[in-house]
Amino acid sequence: MFYIDHMREMFENRFGNLKAFVKTFGCQQNESDSEKICGFFRDIGFSFVDDPIFANLIVFNTCAVRHTAQDRIYGHIGMLKSIKRVNNNIFIIICGCMVELESEKNKILSKYPYVDFVCGAKSFEKFPELLYEHLTGIKIEENYSMSVIQKDKFKAWIPIISGCNNFCSYCIVPYVRGCEVSRKFEDILSDCKKYISNGTKIITFLGQNVNSYDYDGMKFKDLIYEVDKIDGDFTIRFMTSHPKDFTFSLVDTLAKCKHFSKSLHLPIQSGNNRILKLMNRKYTREEYIEKIDYARSKIEGLVISTDIIVGFPGETNEEFEDTISLIEKVRFFSIFSFIYSKRNGTLSATMQDLTKYEEKAKRIDRLINIQNKISEELHSELIGRNFRVFVEGISDEYLMCRTDSNLMVKILNGKNNYEIGNVLYVKIANSGRNALYAKLLEEI
Ligand code: SAH
Ligand code: SF4
Ligand code: F3S
Repeated sequence: MFYIDHMREMFENRFGNLKAFVKTFGCQQNESDSEKICGFFRDIGFSFVDDPIFANLIVFNTCAVRHTAQDRIYGHIGMLKSIKRVNNNIFIIICGCMVELESEKNKILSKYPYVDFVCGAKSFEKFPELLYEHLTGIKIEENYSMSVIQKDKFKAWIPIISGCNNFCSYCIVPYVRGCEVSRKFEDILSDCKKYISNGTKIITFLGQNVNSYDYDGMKFKDLIYEVDKIDGDFTIRFMTSHPKDFTFSLVDTLAKCKHFSKSLHLPIQSGNNRILKLMNRKYTREEYIEKIDYARSKIEGLVISTDIIVGFPGETNEEFEDTISLIEKVRFFSIFSFIYSKRNGTLSATMQDLTKYEEKAKRIDRLINIQNKISEELHSELIGRNFRVFVEGISDEYLMCRTDSNLMVKILNGKNNYEIGNVLYVKIANSGRNALYAKLLEEI
């Protein structure tokens, strides 16, 4: 396409040597978008560096889900000032969810004038055309389809549904990502076939609520069922599931699928029904527990994790204790817990919130301590068991691996020349709070 060639020329003339640094904040959806941004910049001639100092193009793909996430990003944008001072020619792009918020976009443009181009998450598919318009003033009607650079060859993120219709009262995501749009069933299937035939071992379906996938009547369980039929050695994961749409019949399908990873991330958010109602989550504690019990009864070895928000406006200590009793009852392998963060524009931002931050911090500490003990116990119950694992990272000391079900396994690095993506068979010898320690079966 002429404008892609034209951009290549413009950047070549500007920099000579095309080096890009891309940093991603936020969730897997953003990771997946960044893989496309990288694919696009590769197509116009860039290679990638690990340090912004060596780059002449810098991209930050941002997240707006909590204040802490935003503050961190502003810290990073602030640091670019000194890089720009050394190299005024550098081109800085801030894109993603944070830029979708008018207030933050204006703040970036006014307080950080060295930022060259911004592009919000909702306009992401038009990123190449918007960049071209920014550079030349010329509007383009076509749409360049961005191909993906897989960060790890053995893993593929596959977005199946974008946006979110749920409007949980605390959450900014529906505002920055727009409403739900399911991708074409056939396109997802052909992506899967392509990745699997190229040696990808872990397919992760992405969406803010994968369970509401619906393309022309084809539902999430139909998708999983069809992908499971593909020949090859691969594992299917997906995130995130919404408990209200996570159905018994989906569990029945998963139980039949030989490629299902047996890992499930099912955010509960709170163990108290009044708070769940205020959060607009549309399920009760009892319904949640019933679904977990059913899933566990059908799928042996299922590893379940969750998200919890502590200190939602008006949450009393007793109501928080319901969350504690829930995690003690369900016994998750791991929990991602967050102190409630007020996001302007959401419904809960208008709710009275009198609980002090220190009190919320105490609550989350209590939650984390109790969970740590549960995680430790659940991991230790796996000592002596055998697993198949993927090598995900290699340090001097350990091969960092994951089971199909996404549990972390560390193996002492015997300098056996293993590579990232290798499949190993191991026996669990020891355990910690967040990881298992294993020996290679062939060495036992
Ligand atoms: N779509 C997913 C994930 C959304 S964001 C889901 O429905 O679960 C990831 C997590 O961030 C949420 O599960 C929630 O626990 C947390 N989160 C979202 N908004 C938040 C807020 N305003 N304050 C604190 N945590 C929040
Ligand atoms: Fe946010 Fe709720 Fe949508 Fe998840 S389901 S992205 S928490 S609104
Ligand atoms: Fe953050 Fe956007 Fe994901 S707000 S959590 S990066 S969808």
